[in-house]
Amino acid sequence: MNVGILTGGGDCPGLNAVIRAVVKRGLQFGYTFTGIRDGWKGLLTGSTMPLGPGNISGLLPMGGTILGTSRTNPLKKPEDEALLMKNIKALGLDVIIGIGGDDTLGVASKLFDKGIKTIGVPKTIDNDLTGTDFTFGFDTAVSIVTWALDRLHSTTEAHQRVMVVEVMGRHAGWIAVYGGIAGGADVILIPEKPFDIDEVCGYINRRRDAGKNFSLVVAAEGAHPKEASTTITKDKELDAFGHVKLGGIGEFLAGEIEKRTGHESRHVVLGHLQRGGTPTAYDRILATRYGVRAIELVNEGTFGRMVALQGNKIVDISLHEATSKLKTVDMEMFKTAQIFFG
Ligand code: F6P
Repeated sequence: MNVGILTGGGDCPGLNAVIRAVVKRGLQFGYTFTGIRDGWKGLLTGSTMPLGPGNISGLLPMGGTILGTSRTNPLKKPEDEALLMKNIKALGLDVIIGIGGDDTLGVASKLFDKGIKTIGVPKTIDNDLTGTDFTFGFDTAVSIVTWALDRLHSTTEAHQRVMVVEVMGRHAGWIAVYGGIAGGADVILIPEKPFDIDEVCGYINRRRDAGKNFSLVVAAEGAHPKEASTTITKDKELDAFGHVKLGGIGEFLAGEIEKRTGHESRHVVLGHLQRGGTPTAYDRILATRYGVRAIELVNEGTFGRMVALQGNKIVDISLHEATSKLKTVDMEMFKTAQIFFG
């Protein structure tokens, strides 16, 4: 059995830990492995690398991905799809394990429908994949946001300012909510709940009236005010899956808050810091469990599935279900966060 492995979409701490686990367990079944470079793009260019006992050591704590990644959508044009199918055959791939978010796994799901044996592993720091309680990489991102908020807290208090911290989260505010709760944010803004700027200013003024002359606001990059129906973007260019580049809500908010409250404000964009570097212990363990289960599914002859965490059990769900809709923030959790606003 020749198993192809690829990592697609934005990188995420724990990708290498999944690769290591898949290969380590798969070697015990006597499988061989082909590393596909740069996500689905590698299957258009035929760019691969061997994966085996010689190159999986040292991967567990390593950030990034040894396979490289891209946001290439190989099913966008019919000629690409034909090339992809030809290369899968030419490379002798019996099965492809795709490690990615909804875009990468959406392709894996469609390929399964076209007769290719695929398995998905849920990756994204955004934690917005359906059917799994957590994606690996999320815990690391939340830890980084918490670390940043702890540091920003002291400087914000010392200068009696408002600090707006922009975090990742395109359609779902999981990082903002978890990071915000852990870091003691005074207001948290998420894409799922368009906000009223005057209400945000109200929280800041309420704190000032109570003698707390500083505030920390955490905003997911996809958060937007009620009066603007769309998110704030860097430019209008779309990627291969039709996404725009987000960014700018932090700067916009800091300006509005200063204008409306007269309170000196600053903003910080945490950006790709949230995605880089070594995974937390939690993410290493989750990535390892996902990798082991993914290759065990291959050994059981089960395809078209995504491994998932439900409770403390690793289960598998159909790729169709996993990519049918995004998992947005649990409003019960948001209500808990709101208790600490203002
Ligand atoms: O991995 C998902 C994500 O973190 C989104 O929250 C964010 O919008 C996007 O990646 C940005 O990624 P890049 O700058 O690499 O395109």
